[in-house]
Amino acid sequence: MGLVSDLKTLYHVAFAPVKGTSHQARLESFYSGQADAYDDFRKRLLHGREEMMRWLPLAPGMRMLDMGGGTGSNIESLGDRLSAMQSVTIVDLCGPLLETAKARITARGWTNVDTAHTDVTVYEPAYGCNVDVVTFSYSLTMIPDWFRALQQAWRLLKPGGLIGVVDFYIARKWPTSGMKAHSWLQRLCWPAWFASDNVYLSWDHIPWLQAHFEPVVLEERLGKVPYMLGLKAPHYIFIGRKPLQ
Ligand SMILES: C[S@@+](CC[C@H](N)C(=O)[O-])C[C@H]1O[C@@H](n2cnc3c(N)ncnc32)[C@H](O)[C@@H]1O
Repeated sequence: MGLVSDLKTLYHVAFAPVKGTSHQARLESFYSGQADAYDDFRKRLLHGREEMMRWLPLAPGMRMLDMGGGTGSNIESLGDRLSAMQSVTIVDLCGPLLETAKARITARGWTNVDTAHTDVTVYEPAYGCNVDVVTFSYSLTMIPDWFRALQQAWRLLKPGGLIGVVDFYIARKWPTSGMKAHSWLQRLCWPAWFASDNVYLSWDHIPWLQAHFEPVVLEERLGKVPYMLGLKAPHYIFIGRKPLQ
């Protein structure tokens, strides 16, 4: 972690123009200048990723897809459980981040981890709809058709398969019983602030997940945003199971 590296990342997050006429081109334009500094800065911004990965009730031999997996840093959180997995595929549309993921795979000598450079809304592994675990770590808010990404994950998962999601969000104006409420200022400011980086906070992710999966874990939290004078943005962790039928 260094100030120069942070300043470079902040420039790309706050000022660098994002160019491109397709989603992939815009992602690559946004990340290409900060791919090397990505992990260090996001460690302080993207809270709850390690817990989500740690809390997944994994079993040996499972096949996992990390959708919008970027640099693959979340795979590190699997720790000793990784070697017992049958396969882990990091699926992402952004070439520069996947290059970092590939370098990590080689450096760690992970033989059961690979990458797929494609859109998660249409990705299908060669082994078909036989996936045990799908994760989305801070990717749903960057996927314009996030509901298609979730529909695809649901389709690919085996009955009883697991989904793990961690992401920014915003509460509904009238949250259902037991759910957290956010002030009108939070509900107004955070979506506008994140949207400038093409990150779209939604109040519909959690209800969608609850409607399609049996909840195992749901936590709604706040996490500090670096260089924002202690301000905290809302994020959630959801782990769920696809019903057996
Ligand atoms: C904020 S980053 C999170 C990366 C990683 N999951 C993490 O936790 O550090 C969002 C990721 O979603 C990817 N992404 C956005 N839209 C995508 C799509 N339609 N298909 C695949 N990846 C996508 C981006 O390229 C980026 O790597």
